[in-house]
Amino acid sequence: MAARLLRLYPGPPEDLPLAGAYLAHGLQALGSPAAPFVYASFVSSLDGRIALLDPATGESRFPPGLSNGSDFRLFLELQAQADCLITHAGYLRDLAAGKLDNVLQIGLHDPGRDLADWRLANGMAPQPAVVVASSSLDFTLPESLARHGQRVMIAVGRAAPAGRVEALRRAGLEVIVAGEGVRVEGAPLVRVLGGRGFRSLYLLAGPRMLETTLRGGVLSRLYLTMAHRLFGGERFQSMIEGSELGDAGRLRMASLYHDADGGQWFTQFEPVCP
Ligand SMILES: NC(=O)c1ccc[n+]([C@@H]2O[C@H](COP(=O)([O-])OP(=O)(O)OC[C@H]3O[C@@H](n4cnc5c(N)ncnc54)[C@H](OP(=O)(O)O)[C@@H]3O)[C@@H](O)[C@H]2O)c1
Repeated sequence: MAARLLRLYPGPPEDLPLAGAYLAHGLQALGSPAAPFVYASFVSSLDGRIALLDPATGESRFPPGLSNGSDFRLFLELQAQADCLITHAGYLRDLAAGKLDNVLQIGLHDPGRDLADWRLANGMAPQPAVVVASSSLDFTLPESLARHGQRVMIAVGRAAPAGRVEALRRAGLEVIVAGEGVRVEGAPLVRVLGGRGFRSLYLLAGPRMLETTLRGGVLSRLYLTMAHRLFGGERFQSMIEGSELGDAGRLRMASLYHDADGGQWFTQFEPVCP
């Protein structure tokens, strides 16, 4: 039987099919080049783990049992609504090492084959553009980006290694300077991408880019899947890093769905502007 969800908030409660639940949010139409819609997603355990770290080496791994087919389908629906994916060098390094799957294209995974047609029916390009944020510029682009004709941009801070920036430009890549230090900053990055006509920007990234967009006041919505289990473990990562966020971390719940069979809540939060 096809998976179903119970939407608990806003009420009254409503039973609905899981497939299509996030497409119904219409994210591709919520932003504009002047104010792109920026969204992120995470899957967390009830004890706040998004990744476990090896106690000895510090190497991170995605905890088995954190994710399931339900949140993966919804993840693919979020991805399908993006004009542009914002990812980072860490993901490309994990991809090259075979630690993570390639999720840079739409419609290539079984639970989301329909999403390629959905994009075309909704007037979107067949595949999203991709931005790679990095300070070190130590990464290799996967060949799938060229094979699918995706526009690729590299985002850096002004203090990024000049020789590497020059090498990227010589290789014909678009380099976006967004930030005065070594790290990419959220507000200038989103401003530049809006200026290039992108309206919906999905953070296919981790804790640092979430922090970057919250501090920059440019995150529009956080999609958070809470898996109903505890992991424990001596060392782990949570969805945010860096110093205390203060008011930049205040959120308002926009909606909440319950998946009783899959044992997950799907919540959406929006920053509360101080
Ligand atoms: N459960 C989940 O939903 C979920 C989601 C995301 C990630 N994770 C896991 O969490 C762990 C850590 O996440 P992660 O490695 O994806 O992300 P991360 O630790 O936040 O960032 C990794 C790399 O991305 C680049 N980067 C990020 N923000 C940047 C910025 N503002 N400016 C310049 N470069 C920036 C840096 O690359 P350079 O070193 O090249 O400068 C950084 O080392 C991983 O194990 C991952 O699998 C889990």
